[in-house]
Amino acid sequence: MARRKIIAGNWKMNMTPTEAVELINTLKPLVATDDADVVFCVPAIDIIPAMEAAKGSNIAIGAENMYFEEKGAYTGEISPAMLTDAGVKYVVLGHSERREYFAETSETVNKKMLKAFEHGITPIMCCGETLTQREQGVTMDFIRQQVKVGFLGVTAEQAATAVIAYEPIWAIGTGKTATTEQAQEVCKGIRECIAEIYDAATAEKIRIQYGGSVNAATAPELFAQPDIDGGLVGGAALKPDFGKIVNWK
Ligand code: 13P
Repeated sequence: MARRKIIAGNWKMNMTPTEAVELINTLKPLVATDDADVVFCVPAIDIIPAMEAAKGSNIAIGAENMYFEEKGAYTGEISPAMLTDAGVKYVVLGHSERREYFAETSETVNKKMLKAFEHGITPIMCCGETLTQREQGVTMDFIRQQVKVGFLGVTAEQAATAVIAYEPIWAIGTGKTATTEQAQEVCKGIRECIAEIYDAATAEKIRIQYGGSVNAATAPELFAQPDIDGGLVGGAALKPDFGKIVNWK
């Protein structure tokens, strides 16, 4: 069975609650489709108004981060139950910006992965190499480690429902999209890694996105690749262009 595409926007630290509602109202008709899952991952404070604005549409609202404890003295963090209570179904975990600026490691990402599954939230786990790692020829070694540690203790049944976003760091926000061949090669490598950890059936089911300067022009070729099941989109998800990306066919 063909995997259903999943096209997600990652708003990052953009859009006030008021702007979030306006953007969703603008994008709602443009991202309507039966062919793919459409997710808007928004800042925590935007989740509730975004959920309200997206009501009755095909847009699912996701979070950009989540803590791995249930509750307690963790000032500033958002718990899994806070997300599920608000209706959140997806959470971005281990984005390279969180790894770089907020000391996320594959170990903390793994704890968050386990918590997300425990609460029935689908993780969109990000991985990706730096330009130096690519030049050193260690791209796949690095990503395999991120995936292997990220999925420690995750069952095959859970893994089959997960989403992995391959985002080469050098392609994020730079306008420099990975070539279709580079993106497909790594996404295929990630699928092989999942097959090694679990089995072929799990690898066939897991959805792998590409992210990094995806736009309406590059999306069709990227999304047509056999191992690329959609995209995680930053800048272009804040514009009407996102409608074209979602309806890439
Ligand atoms: P851009 O699409 O702006 O390059 O961002 C990609 C990204 O980091 C999505 O998570």
